[in-house]
Amino acid sequence: MTRDLSYEAVMGRKNEIMKKALGVDYDQYELSQLAFDYDTMMEDVEVSIKEVQRIQEEVSVGRTPLIELKNLNALVKKFSEEGKGAKILIKDEACNPSGSYKDRRASLSVYMAKKLGYKGVVTATSGNYGAAVASQAAKLGLKCIVVQECYDSQGIGQPEILEKRRKCEALGAEVLSLTVGPELFYTFLSVLEETGYFNASLYSSFGIRGIETLGVEIAEEVMARYGKYPEVVLATHAGGGNLTGTARGLKAAGAKDTQVVGVSVDLKGLHMASDKDFNKKSFTTGHTGFGIPFTTFPDRSDVPRSAARPLRYMDAYYLVKQGEVFYMTEALAQLEGLERGPAGNTSLTAAFAMAREMKDTDILVVQETEYTGAGKHPQSQLSFARERGIDLYVGDPEEEVPGKSIVLPRGPLDIKLRPVDLSKLKKSLIRNYVTMKDIKRVTELDLFYLMEETRSSYEFVKLALQLEGCELVL
Ligand SMILES: Cc1ncc(COP(=O)(O)O)c(C=O)c1O
Repeated sequence: MTRDLSYEAVMGRKNEIMKKALGVDYDQYELSQLAFDYDTMMEDVEVSIKEVQRIQEEVSVGRTPLIELKNLNALVKKFSEEGKGAKILIKDEACNPSGSYKDRRASLSVYMAKKLGYKGVVTATSGNYGAAVASQAAKLGLKCIVVQECYDSQGIGQPEILEKRRKCEALGAEVLSLTVGPELFYTFLSVLEETGYFNASLYSSFGIRGIETLGVEIAEEVMARYGKYPEVVLATHAGGGNLTGTARGLKAAGAKDTQVVGVSVDLKGLHMASDKDFNKKSFTTGHTGFGIPFTTFPDRSDVPRSAARPLRYMDAYYLVKQGEVFYMTEALAQLEGLERGPAGNTSLTAAFAMAREMKDTDILVVQETEYTGAGKHPQSQLSFARERGIDLYVGDPEEEVPGKSIVLPRGPLDIKLRPVDLSKLKKSLIRNYVTMKDIKRVTELDLFYLMEETRSSYEFVKLALQLEGCELVL
């Protein structure tokens, strides 16, 4: 009998396809209409952090340099009041085989795929993760297919996305390049079903465990060099895995008081799934188009329960502007001799502004860099933006309107931190859960789950649920 390959039929077989493609039965973690057992799901990853370190060492992933940015720090001091100006360190994750921290995430997924006997791996991503999976699959001798949202309906691709596709292909992956729209998930499921390959999801517990080594290295290296844990670690934030994995690693290593801060590029007003807006952004990750929706509803991912749950770990969240990140990209290259890609420079931008307000004895770690080149470079992004009618000028970045202008700062003092109200995000997570799952009555178990999910008090969650019109059965 031939399989029904219609959209409805494939989507209808989603759970069955996922179960086969990951070897994880998510049903076992479900606790109620709303709650699931996140801690047990993470504990069930058979490989401990120590073992992950060994696995990553085998494939030359991790143990990246931690660099004190001496010239940039001198600039911070110059623009800070007496006694202020914290030290910024950066973890040079571009030194990983495919050029980003995503190698840590991919290494464990691909290792598991091999161990479980799969012949290949599939991933749906337009980002660096595709390259990381391709690189790890090449090392372990597995086939790799990357499903990528690449073009708008005119067939035009953003330079950074085209660069990432080039990289995946260079590393031996087969890339299925799609136009923006809902077919991504359908294609992904169809490929998993047809090939029987492993789902190297960004959001599986293996992926997040793989990132934990980054947090451990930061804690141990800063302690060994400076005799204390860093006051703050900043993570560029999109789908939430980067922040979640790093924070879990920091805690596992003992850095329990280190503040974990998420940073995204402000792309408010641009719609990620819109054909019209798809090519109006100069950043393809680490922006609010992913950061806000994934923070307030992590399970929008390609697995039933995402292991990336940023609100459990985030102490603060800040936005920076596109023009500011371009400025900081140049500053890193010209002051430190480090030409690096956009994502790491997003949290570096926030670090620069934050360091000016912190004590000069404080340590602040930017937890990644990524490789750059070709389409990732500010020149290609700015030329592409100008061709799309976006106004480029030097001025106050506060004036920048995503999709309409990019404002390059006049000087270092123009770089600002824009805090996101975490309590609003927490309320919005609660609202999303209740509305998306159409929940009318909530039990104590659900309420305790939401307290953990949002790191909030009983009263906070209770009030938020009441405001959503839920009946509390306590
Ligand atoms: C280099 C780099 N840094 C940071 C991020 C953000 O990670 P996450 O989506 O886990 O928040 C990405 C994601 O695409 C990335 O490629």
